[in-house]
This record gives sequence, C-alpha cells and structure tokens, in this order.
Amino acid sequence: MGKGEVKVEHLARVGQPCVAICTAKHCKRAGAQQILGAAQAALLEAGLAAQVQVAETACQDHCDDGPVLTVIPGLYPYLSLNPATTRDVILQHVRDGQPLLEHLHRRFRRRLARRVAEEE
Ligand code: FES
Repeated sequence: MGKGEVKVEHLARVGQPCVAICTAKHCKRAGAQQILGAAQAALLEAGLAAQVQVAETACQDHCDDGPVLTVIPGLYPYLSLNPATTRDVILQHVRDGQPLLEHLHRRFRRRLARRVAEEE
C-alpha cells in the first residue's frame, strides 16, 4: 500500500499511538502538508516524536472540513485545522490527554461531552 493510501480505520484497529493526517485531494488543497509539518514539530516539542507516529492516510470522509487529523488510539477526528490548532491538539490531547472539544468532529464532541457529564 503506497503513501497516503492507509485507511484511518486500519490504524485505529492497530491501535498504536498515532496522529493520522488525511493527505487525499481535498485536504491536500486545504493545507494538509502544513498540518503534517506542524504535527511533527509539536510532537518534537512535546518529547513524543519517538512514541507517536505521524501517518498520512486516504480520505477520512470529512472532505468539506479539511484539513483533518485523527488522534489514535480512540479515533478522535479534528477538523478544519491550521498549524496553530494542530499544535494545540498535539500538546493538549496527545501529550496531556485533554481532547479539544472546539475542533473535534461534532458527533465525537457530543459523545465526549456525555461521557464527561456522566463522570461528574
Ligand atoms: S480528502 Fe481529506 S477527508 Fe476527504
């Protein structure tokens, strides 16, 4: 399987810590290469570059809301990212374990909000 053809569902099944960035047509046009660079830089900054893989994936089915980055394990899709928000996702979610609700896909945002409410 070539670069960019990996499916995010496959990475989620494997479950290794990973940030899966869509590099298919629409996300590429929306700036996926910048997101790749920002994710790699933020993982270095967080001291996690050796533990968390950056993977390029095929389309993740959020084409109108790219660029898209999904945090694994857990399959958390973040939408409409830019380099600054990508850094926030890496530092707050991947390093600190605190998902960023404002950039999370709304279905996952609702699910997470319910889980937080149940814990309170
Ligand atoms: S092209 Fe990236 S989600 Fe479809």
